[in-house]
Amino acid sequence: MDRIRIRGGHPLSGEIPISGAKNAALKLMAAALLTAEPLTLTNVPRLADVRAMAELLASFGVKIQVTLSGNFGEGDTMRLEAATITSAFASYDMVRKMRASFQVLAPLLAREGAAKVSLPGGCAIGARPVELHLNALEAMGAQIDLAEGYVTATAKGGLKGAEIVFPFVSVGATETAMMAATLAKGTTKIVNAAREPEIIDLGNCLIAMGAEIWGLGSSEITVQGVEKLHSAAHRVMPDRIETGTYAIAVAIAGGDVELVGAAPDTIASLNALLVKSGATVTATPRGMKVQMNGGRPKASDITTAPYPGFPTDLQAQMMALMAVADGTSVIREKIFENRFMHVPELARMGAQVRIDGDTATVRGVEKLKGAQVMATDLRASVSLVLAGLAAEGETVVGRIYHLDRGFDRLEEKLSRVGADIARVSE
Ligand code: UD1
Repeated sequence: MDRIRIRGGHPLSGEIPISGAKNAALKLMAAALLTAEPLTLTNVPRLADVRAMAELLASFGVKIQVTLSGNFGEGDTMRLEAATITSAFASYDMVRKMRASFQVLAPLLAREGAAKVSLPGGCAIGARPVELHLNALEAMGAQIDLAEGYVTATAKGGLKGAEIVFPFVSVGATETAMMAATLAKGTTKIVNAAREPEIIDLGNCLIAMGAEIWGLGSSEITVQGVEKLHSAAHRVMPDRIETGTYAIAVAIAGGDVELVGAAPDTIASLNALLVKSGATVTATPRGMKVQMNGGRPKASDITTAPYPGFPTDLQAQMMALMAVADGTSVIREKIFENRFMHVPELARMGAQVRIDGDTATVRGVEKLKGAQVMATDLRASVSLVLAGLAAEGETVVGRIYHLDRGFDRLEEKLSRVGADIARVSE
């Protein structure tokens, strides 16, 4: 099994190209199910999760062509054509590997009037139920049956517009409601909708496909259903979590790096914290630049929250930074329970962290020490890589299939800016 070996202590300098966003690309791919005409996505990141979604869509009869980009800084092009849907069944085997595959339920149901999709697996971070998705579809007239780990959804006469009021913010459920509403009869109002940039990206792609949507980026989205959607081309937005991860890499390792293609306004909450910790963050015509010149980062308190709050997907990475900060920081995880699995691994490297429920108190130490550690989920695994960049000696991260799910050529991007990092197989 592959591992990643890092020798710490090298400042980073140069440019890192930012890939297309995983969390946008997966839903954009699912949106191809909504039309018989082709959807062409550009700037698609090269990730295991993207390949898993392609495989799932192919099992429904979607024809997919990928043109690999020869340019390191540009993503691939993917043409998806769901001319005829030959199956609307997503097995446990297909769905368990990746929670985002549950997002095929709404477009399959909207297009075919029926779908059977396994309940999801995905990262082992808490219970992560899907009742908000199912309630939204029921409000739109779907009949939902749950049996043996599967959801069977039917809407014989088609879905109908409805007012959907979410009790709390969910990215996935907002996307489910928005995709289902594009082909429903009448108007759908989504109240307490998620405002994440990936929702705006999906909404803009749906609009390019002929959908009528208002209020993207606000907490109230209105969708006027249309008879059918059509062909479109859409460029996947830059990955703000990848951007944030490399920005934190610079803060932890020191140096000066331009993140080319980044959209700094999508991670304003992180940038404010990085500045507080002592980094300089500047928007550039091509993206953003992060500089950290000498000195230890300063400690800051962090609380995760729905967008525009601090993203839970950057919590583990910030903990790695706080582990070497001057002072004590309190990190509160408010989105997912059980999302501190990186803590015992960071502790193996000398981090001083105490957990009490959803709160971690991190007492910064002068230096972390390289160790053998294990990735436990997607974002946790990259926090160990970041810690390794700052640690004395050698860090070896195992179970890196978690990293390959969500980070496009990570070791290549980091070694190009001077990190001593390599993938080793044994
Ligand atoms: C998406 C992202 C994930 C990110 C998360 C929060 C993708 C593929 N994944 O996940 O990387 O960490 O947003 O920004 O885009 N919940 C329920 N019932 C539901 C739905 C959600 O209880 O029906 C809970 C979840 O367990 C969680 C919270 O709501 O505690 C937020 O989850 P949600 O926003 O839905 O996250 P995802 O869409 O799964």
